[in-house]
Amino acid sequence: METALVTGASRGLGAAIAERLAADGFAVAVNYASSSAGAEQVVARIREAGGTAGAFQADVTDEAAVAALFEEVRGALGPVTVVVANATGPQPEIPADQVAWRDHLDQLEFFVKSPTLLLQAALPDMRAARRGRMIQIGSDVFERALPHMSAYTAAKGAQWGLTRVWASEFGAHGVTVNLVAPGWIPVERHGELTDADLAGYLEDLPLGRIGVPADVAAAVAYLASDDAAFITGQRLTVNGGHNMD
Ligand SMILES: NC(=O)c1ccc[n+]([C@@H]2O[C@H](COP(=O)([O-])OP(=O)(O)OC[C@H]3O[C@@H](n4cnc5c(N)ncnc54)[C@H](OP(=O)(O)O)[C@@H]3O)[C@@H](O)[C@H]2O)c1
Repeated sequence: METALVTGASRGLGAAIAERLAADGFAVAVNYASSSAGAEQVVARIREAGGTAGAFQADVTDEAAVAALFEEVRGALGPVTVVVANATGPQPEIPADQVAWRDHLDQLEFFVKSPTLLLQAALPDMRAARRGRMIQIGSDVFERALPHMSAYTAAKGAQWGLTRVWASEFGAHGVTVNLVAPGWIPVERHGELTDADLAGYLEDLPLGRIGVPADVAAAVAYLASDDAAFITGQRLTVNGGHNMD
């Protein structure tokens, strides 16, 4: 059984991605920072459905913690050949004339440093298996260029840059590197939403409905599958057609 690590999988999109990959036959490492109860619930749902999973605490922006995480996951579930870099910290809205360098660093920790640590830790397993899937969770804010989101958007743009270069560097080892860019997908942190909350956003969506975490999980599952073996260095936008390249 192949092992997939999903960072930030105690809730939100990561939880849905973990459950979907488990349903597709991966042993899934459900990573979390502090929500052990949330992660254990995701693991319980996977096991109830007949899948294999474990919960693993680690701050994925910390070098030593990522190294320890991989040792722990390998020991429990085996070599890690699929990594989904999904975890995120807070995403504050800050007008660009008030952004501090620290605000940029906060976002780069999650979308440049963490994916780099994760890829480097997974590469020995991926190279040995001659099969690897690095899947980055980006955002359509890069395309939509929303005001007051410059630090988050710059870091998401950098993550897209990493995706392209890594795809070039590691293709020869059988490793594909792709990015899934969700639009707004309400999750727990968005709270209860009314039809009025969604109305303005839906007006601009050709598909006319709000996205759900399973929409993102399906895109990740495809990129993790053998069906996507000849796809690398690509961005798959999951936002109901809100923007089109
Ligand atoms: N939802 C959307 O509308 C949307 C749209 C576009 C892109 N995205 C992207 O999708 C990804 C997931 O977003 P989300 O909305 O699902 O986020 P979320 O609901 O806020 O969940 C964040 C997850 O990251 C974990 N986390 C936080 N800091 C961590 C750390 N230092 N180390 C390890 N895990 C950590 C949290 O764990 P704890 O619970 O333990 O804190 C939680 O599991 C992000 O990359 C985000 O940028 C989301």
